[in-house]
Amino acid sequence: MKHLLSLHDITTEEFYQILDTAAKLKKELKAGIPHPILKGKSMAMIFTKSSTRTRVSFETGMFQLGGHALYLNGNDIQLGRGESIYDTANVLSRFVDGIMIRTFAHSDVEDLAKYGSVPVINGLTDLLHPCQALADFLTIREHKGRLEGLKFAYIGDGNNMAHSLMYAAAKAKMDIAVATPKGYECNAEVAENAKADAKKSGSNITITYDPVEAIKDADVVCTDTWTSMGQEAEKAERIKAFGDYQVNAKLFANAKGDAIFLHCLPAYRGYEVTEDIIDGPHSVIFDEAENRLHAQKAVMAILMAD
Ligand code: CP
Ligand code: NVA
Repeated sequence: MKHLLSLHDITTEEFYQILDTAAKLKKELKAGIPHPILKGKSMAMIFTKSSTRTRVSFETGMFQLGGHALYLNGNDIQLGRGESIYDTANVLSRFVDGIMIRTFAHSDVEDLAKYGSVPVINGLTDLLHPCQALADFLTIREHKGRLEGLKFAYIGDGNNMAHSLMYAAAKAKMDIAVATPKGYECNAEVAENAKADAKKSGSNITITYDPVEAIKDADVVCTDTWTSMGQEAEKAERIKAFGDYQVNAKLFANAKGDAIFLHCLPAYRGYEVTEDIIDGPHSVIFDEAENRLHAQKAVMAILMAD
Protein backbone atom coordinates (compact mmCIF):
# COMPACT_ATOMS: atom_id res chain seq x y z
CA MET A 1 0.00 0.00 0.00
CA LYS A 2 1.63 3.27 -1.16
CA HIS A 3 -1.30 5.67 -0.91
CA LEU A 4 -4.90 5.66 0.27
CA LEU A 5 -6.84 7.21 -2.59
CA SER A 6 -9.70 4.72 -2.94
CA LEU A 7 -10.71 1.54 -1.10
CA HIS A 8 -11.10 -0.04 -4.53
CA ASP A 9 -7.29 0.04 -4.83
CA ILE A 10 -6.57 -2.01 -1.70
CA THR A 11 -6.91 -5.72 -1.06
CA THR A 12 -9.20 -7.32 1.52
CA GLU A 13 -6.05 -8.18 3.51
CA GLU A 14 -4.96 -4.53 3.50
CA PHE A 15 -8.47 -3.45 4.46
CA TYR A 16 -8.40 -5.75 7.52
CA GLN A 17 -4.79 -4.73 8.29
CA ILE A 18 -6.01 -1.14 8.64
CA LEU A 19 -8.95 -2.11 10.88
CA ASP A 20 -6.79 -4.40 13.05
CA THR A 21 -4.07 -1.74 13.42
CA ALA A 22 -6.73 0.83 14.28
CA ALA A 23 -8.18 -1.46 16.98
CA LYS A 24 -4.70 -2.02 18.44
CA LEU A 25 -3.83 1.69 18.48
CA LYS A 26 -7.22 2.49 20.04
CA LYS A 27 -6.64 -0.04 22.81
CA GLU A 28 -3.15 1.30 23.46
CA LEU A 29 -4.38 4.89 23.56
CA LYS A 30 -7.12 4.01 26.06
CA ALA A 31 -4.53 2.16 28.20
CA GLY A 32 -2.17 5.13 28.12
CA ILE A 33 0.48 3.22 26.16
CA PRO A 34 2.37 5.64 23.89
CA HIS A 35 2.97 4.63 20.27
CA PRO A 36 5.39 7.14 18.66
CA ILE A 37 5.53 5.18 15.39
CA LEU A 38 5.96 8.36 13.29
CA LYS A 39 8.41 10.19 15.57
CA GLY A 40 10.10 13.02 13.68
CA LYS A 41 7.77 12.76 10.64
CA SER A 42 5.66 15.54 9.17
CA MET A 43 2.46 15.42 7.16
CA ALA A 44 0.96 18.26 5.12
CA MET A 45 -2.83 18.54 5.21
CA ILE A 46 -4.33 20.46 2.29
CA PHE A 47 -7.95 21.57 2.67
CA THR A 48 -9.88 23.30 -0.10
CA LYS A 49 -13.18 22.41 1.64
CA SER A 50 -14.40 22.85 5.24
CA SER A 51 -13.77 20.23 7.90
CA THR A 52 -14.16 19.58 11.61
CA ARG A 53 -13.60 15.84 12.05
CA THR A 54 -11.02 15.23 9.34
CA ARG A 55 -8.83 18.13 10.33
CA VAL A 56 -8.92 17.50 14.07
CA SER A 57 -8.59 13.72 13.87
CA PHE A 58 -5.65 13.78 11.46
CA GLU A 59 -3.83 16.52 13.37
CA THR A 60 -4.41 14.91 16.77
CA GLY A 61 -3.64 11.47 15.39
CA MET A 62 -0.33 12.58 13.93
CA PHE A 63 0.58 14.16 17.29
CA GLN A 64 -0.27 10.91 19.11
CA LEU A 65 1.98 9.02 16.68
CA GLY A 66 4.88 11.31 17.58
CA GLY A 67 4.78 13.33 14.36
CA HIS A 68 3.66 16.75 13.26
CA ALA A 69 0.81 17.80 10.94
CA LEU A 70 0.63 21.10 9.07
CA TYR A 71 -2.77 22.56 8.20
CA LEU A 72 -2.64 24.17 4.75
CA ASN A 73 -5.75 26.03 3.69
CA GLY A 74 -6.11 25.82 -0.08
CA ASN A 75 -6.67 29.56 -0.29
CA ASP A 76 -3.51 30.40 1.64
CA ILE A 77 -1.07 28.25 -0.29
CA GLN A 78 -0.04 29.01 -3.88
CA LEU A 79 -2.23 26.16 -5.19
CA GLY A 80 -5.15 28.56 -4.64
CA ARG A 81 -3.46 31.10 -6.91
CA GLY A 82 -2.93 28.66 -9.74
CA GLU A 83 0.30 26.82 -8.87
CA SER A 84 0.10 23.39 -10.47
CA ILE A 85 -0.52 20.11 -8.66
CA TYR A 86 2.69 18.88 -10.32
CA ASP A 87 4.84 21.58 -8.71
CA THR A 88 2.97 21.38 -5.39
CA ALA A 89 3.46 17.60 -5.25
CA ASN A 90 7.16 17.83 -6.02
CA VAL A 91 7.85 20.67 -3.59
CA LEU A 92 5.87 19.23 -0.67
CA SER A 93 7.58 15.86 -1.20
CA ARG A 94 10.91 17.55 -0.43
CA PHE A 95 9.62 18.76 2.95
CA VAL A 96 7.16 16.26 4.39
CA ASP A 97 6.71 12.50 4.74
CA GLY A 98 3.08 12.38 3.66
CA ILE A 99 0.24 14.49 2.29
CA MET A 100 -3.42 14.37 3.24
CA ILE A 101 -5.75 16.28 0.93
CA ARG A 102 -9.45 17.20 0.97
CA THR A 103 -10.60 18.76 -2.28
CA PHE A 104 -13.17 18.76 -5.09
CA ALA A 105 -11.76 16.87 -8.10
CA HIS A 106 -10.68 13.31 -7.39
CA SER A 107 -8.19 13.59 -10.27
CA ASP A 108 -6.27 16.24 -8.28
CA VAL A 109 -5.65 13.70 -5.53
CA GLU A 110 -4.56 11.09 -8.07
CA ASP A 111 -2.20 13.64 -9.64
CA LEU A 112 -0.68 14.52 -6.27
CA ALA A 113 0.08 10.83 -5.75
CA LYS A 114 1.38 10.45 -9.29
CA TYR A 115 3.75 13.41 -9.24
CA GLY A 116 4.84 13.43 -5.60
CA SER A 117 7.16 10.91 -3.97
CA VAL A 118 5.43 10.59 -0.57
CA PRO A 119 2.23 8.76 0.44
CA VAL A 120 -1.01 10.60 -0.29
CA ILE A 121 -4.18 10.12 1.76
CA ASN A 122 -7.59 11.09 0.39
CA GLY A 123 -9.39 13.13 3.06
CA LEU A 124 -12.51 13.45 0.83
CA THR A 125 -13.13 14.31 -2.78
CA ASP A 126 -16.36 14.80 -4.70
CA LEU A 127 -16.06 11.11 -5.63
CA LEU A 128 -14.83 9.29 -2.52
CA HIS A 129 -14.32 9.47 1.26
CA PRO A 130 -12.31 6.34 2.09
CA CYS A 131 -11.16 7.35 5.60
CA GLN A 132 -14.77 7.80 6.69
CA ALA A 133 -15.74 4.38 5.35
CA LEU A 134 -12.83 2.79 7.25
CA ALA A 135 -14.01 4.45 10.48
CA ASP A 136 -17.56 3.30 9.74
CA PHE A 137 -16.53 -0.32 9.27
CA LEU A 138 -14.38 -0.22 12.42
CA THR A 139 -17.48 1.02 14.26
CA ILE A 140 -19.69 -1.71 12.79
CA ARG A 141 -17.19 -4.39 13.79
CA GLU A 142 -17.06 -3.03 17.35
CA HIS A 143 -20.84 -3.05 17.68
CA LYS A 144 -21.67 -6.22 15.75
CA GLY A 145 -18.54 -8.28 16.38
CA ARG A 146 -18.11 -9.00 12.67
CA LEU A 147 -18.51 -7.54 9.20
CA GLU A 148 -18.96 -10.55 6.93
CA GLY A 149 -22.53 -11.50 6.17
CA LEU A 150 -24.17 -8.36 7.55
CA LYS A 151 -26.51 -6.16 5.52
CA PHE A 152 -25.70 -2.45 5.15
CA ALA A 153 -28.38 -0.02 3.93
CA TYR A 154 -27.44 3.40 2.60
CA ILE A 155 -30.38 5.72 1.95
CA GLY A 156 -29.95 9.07 0.19
CA ASP A 157 -27.57 10.74 -2.21
CA GLY A 158 -25.39 8.61 -4.51
CA ASN A 159 -22.37 10.62 -3.34
CA ASN A 160 -18.80 10.21 -2.11
CA MET A 161 -20.01 8.37 1.02
CA ALA A 162 -22.23 5.97 -0.92
CA HIS A 163 -19.28 5.20 -3.21
CA SER A 164 -16.73 4.54 -0.48
CA LEU A 165 -19.23 2.49 1.53
CA MET A 166 -19.90 0.27 -1.49
CA TYR A 167 -16.16 -0.28 -1.91
CA ALA A 168 -15.75 -1.01 1.81
CA ALA A 169 -18.67 -3.45 1.89
CA ALA A 170 -17.27 -5.34 -1.08
CA LYS A 171 -13.86 -5.66 0.62
CA ALA A 172 -15.48 -6.75 3.89
CA LYS A 173 -17.79 -9.33 2.26
CA MET A 174 -20.80 -7.41 3.54
CA ASP A 175 -24.00 -7.02 1.52
CA ILE A 176 -24.94 -3.43 0.77
CA ALA A 177 -28.13 -1.90 -0.63
CA VAL A 178 -28.10 1.70 -1.81
CA ALA A 179 -31.35 3.59 -2.39
CA THR A 180 -31.22 6.96 -4.12
CA PRO A 181 -33.82 9.11 -5.84
CA LYS A 182 -33.85 9.17 -9.65
CA GLY A 183 -31.26 11.63 -10.92
CA TYR A 184 -29.05 11.20 -7.83
CA GLU A 185 -27.69 7.72 -8.55
CA CYS A 186 -24.15 6.58 -7.76
CA ASN A 187 -21.39 7.14 -10.27
CA ALA A 188 -21.75 4.34 -12.85
CA GLU A 189 -18.04 3.47 -12.97
CA VAL A 190 -17.80 3.25 -9.17
CA ALA A 191 -20.89 1.03 -9.07
CA GLU A 192 -19.38 -1.27 -11.72
CA ASN A 193 -16.05 -1.46 -9.86
CA ALA A 194 -17.80 -2.15 -6.56
CA LYS A 195 -19.91 -4.88 -8.15
CA ALA A 196 -16.77 -6.49 -9.58
CA ASP A 197 -15.11 -6.36 -6.12
CA ALA A 198 -18.24 -7.82 -4.52
CA LYS A 199 -18.34 -10.64 -7.04
CA LYS A 200 -14.76 -11.55 -6.08
CA SER A 201 -15.44 -11.48 -2.35
CA GLY A 202 -18.89 -13.07 -2.60
CA SER A 203 -21.10 -10.25 -1.32
CA ASN A 204 -24.09 -8.55 -2.95
CA ILE A 205 -24.58 -4.97 -4.03
CA THR A 206 -28.17 -3.85 -4.61
CA ILE A 207 -28.84 -0.49 -6.22
CA THR A 208 -32.45 0.64 -6.11
CA TYR A 209 -34.81 3.61 -6.00
CA ASP A 210 -36.84 1.97 -3.24
CA PRO A 211 -35.70 2.95 0.29
CA VAL A 212 -37.94 0.30 1.90
CA GLU A 213 -36.36 -2.47 -0.18
CA ALA A 214 -32.89 -1.18 0.71
CA ILE A 215 -33.46 -0.96 4.46
CA LYS A 216 -35.40 -4.24 4.80
CA ASP A 217 -33.72 -6.43 7.48
CA ALA A 218 -30.59 -4.27 7.50
CA ASP A 219 -28.07 -4.58 10.34
CA VAL A 220 -26.62 -1.13 9.62
CA VAL A 221 -28.49 1.93 8.37
CA CYS A 222 -26.66 4.97 7.09
CA THR A 223 -27.42 8.25 5.42
CA ASP A 224 -25.59 11.46 4.60
CA THR A 225 -26.42 15.07 3.88
CA TRP A 226 -28.57 15.66 0.79
CA THR A 227 -26.38 18.64 -0.15
CA SER A 228 -22.66 17.93 -0.19
CA MET A 229 -19.94 20.55 -0.13
CA GLY A 230 -19.92 22.35 -3.47
CA GLN A 231 -23.63 21.67 -4.18
CA GLU A 232 -25.05 24.52 -2.08
CA ALA A 233 -26.79 26.16 -5.09
CA GLU A 234 -28.87 22.97 -5.59
CA LYS A 235 -30.09 22.79 -1.98
CA ALA A 236 -33.76 23.70 -2.55
CA GLU A 237 -34.22 21.33 -5.47
CA ARG A 238 -32.43 18.55 -3.59
CA ILE A 239 -34.72 18.93 -0.55
CA LYS A 240 -37.68 18.36 -2.89
CA ALA A 241 -36.11 15.37 -4.62
CA PHE A 242 -35.04 13.59 -1.41
CA GLY A 243 -38.30 13.87 0.56
CA ASP A 244 -39.09 10.13 0.42
CA TYR A 245 -35.54 9.20 1.44
CA GLN A 246 -35.53 10.59 4.98
CA VAL A 247 -34.38 8.09 7.59
CA ASN A 248 -37.23 8.36 10.12
CA ALA A 249 -38.92 5.96 12.54
CA LYS A 250 -41.34 4.66 9.89
CA LEU A 251 -38.56 3.75 7.47
CA PHE A 252 -36.21 2.52 10.23
CA ALA A 253 -38.90 0.07 11.44
CA ASN A 254 -38.09 -2.05 8.36
CA ALA A 255 -34.51 -2.66 9.54
CA LYS A 256 -33.58 -5.38 12.04
CA GLY A 257 -34.58 -4.63 15.63
CA ASP A 258 -30.94 -4.30 16.70
CA ALA A 259 -29.80 -2.26 13.68
CA ILE A 260 -27.29 0.51 14.28
CA PHE A 261 -27.50 3.96 12.70
CA LEU A 262 -24.45 5.65 11.15
CA HIS A 263 -23.95 9.16 9.76
CA CYS A 264 -20.54 10.57 8.84
CA LEU A 265 -21.62 14.04 10.06
CA PRO A 266 -22.21 16.92 9.72
CA ALA A 267 -25.92 16.00 9.94
CA TYR A 268 -28.97 18.09 9.19
CA ARG A 269 -31.71 16.94 11.54
CA GLY A 270 -35.18 17.08 10.02
CA TYR A 271 -33.81 16.55 6.51
CA GLU A 272 -31.88 13.32 5.81
CA VAL A 273 -32.60 11.98 9.31
CA THR A 274 -35.05 12.75 12.11
CA GLU A 275 -33.92 13.55 15.65
CA ASP A 276 -35.51 10.42 17.15
CA ILE A 277 -33.23 8.27 14.98
CA ILE A 278 -29.93 10.17 15.05
CA ASP A 279 -30.23 10.94 18.77
CA GLY A 280 -32.02 7.69 19.63
CA PRO A 281 -30.91 4.30 20.98
CA HIS A 282 -29.79 2.85 17.61
CA SER A 283 -27.41 5.70 16.82
CA VAL A 284 -23.64 5.21 17.19
CA ILE A 285 -22.61 8.44 15.47
CA PHE A 286 -20.17 9.62 18.11
CA ASP A 287 -18.38 6.27 18.30
CA GLU A 288 -18.19 6.55 14.52
CA ALA A 289 -16.74 10.07 14.70
CA GLU A 290 -14.17 8.98 17.30
CA ASN A 291 -13.11 6.10 15.09
CA ARG A 292 -11.92 8.56 12.44
CA LEU A 293 -8.97 9.14 14.76
CA HIS A 294 -8.09 5.48 15.22
CA ALA A 295 -8.66 4.44 11.59
CA GLN A 296 -6.59 7.30 10.23
CA LYS A 297 -3.76 6.72 12.70
CA ALA A 298 -3.64 3.19 11.32
CA VAL A 299 -3.52 4.47 7.75
CA MET A 300 -0.75 6.97 8.56
CA ALA A 301 1.26 4.39 10.49
CA ILE A 302 0.99 1.82 7.68
CA LEU A 303 1.85 4.30 4.94
CA MET A 304 4.50 6.42 6.64
CA ALA A 305 6.41 4.28 9.16
CA ASP A 306 10.00 3.32 8.20
N1 CP B 1 -17.23 13.32 8.27
C1 CP B 1 -16.33 14.28 7.94
O1 CP B 1 -15.46 14.11 7.09
O2 CP B 1 -16.42 15.41 8.70
P1 CP B 1 -15.69 16.80 8.44
O3 CP B 1 -16.26 17.37 7.16
O4 CP B 1 -16.02 17.62 9.64
O5 CP B 1 -14.22 16.54 8.30
N1 NVA C 1 -21.06 14.00 1.38
C1 NVA C 1 -20.57 15.01 2.29
C2 NVA C 1 -19.68 14.40 3.32
C3 NVA C 1 -19.15 15.38 4.35
C4 NVA C 1 -18.18 14.76 5.31
C5 NVA C 1 -19.83 16.09 1.52
O1 NVA C 1 -19.08 15.76 0.59
O2 NVA C 1 -20.02 17.27 1.82
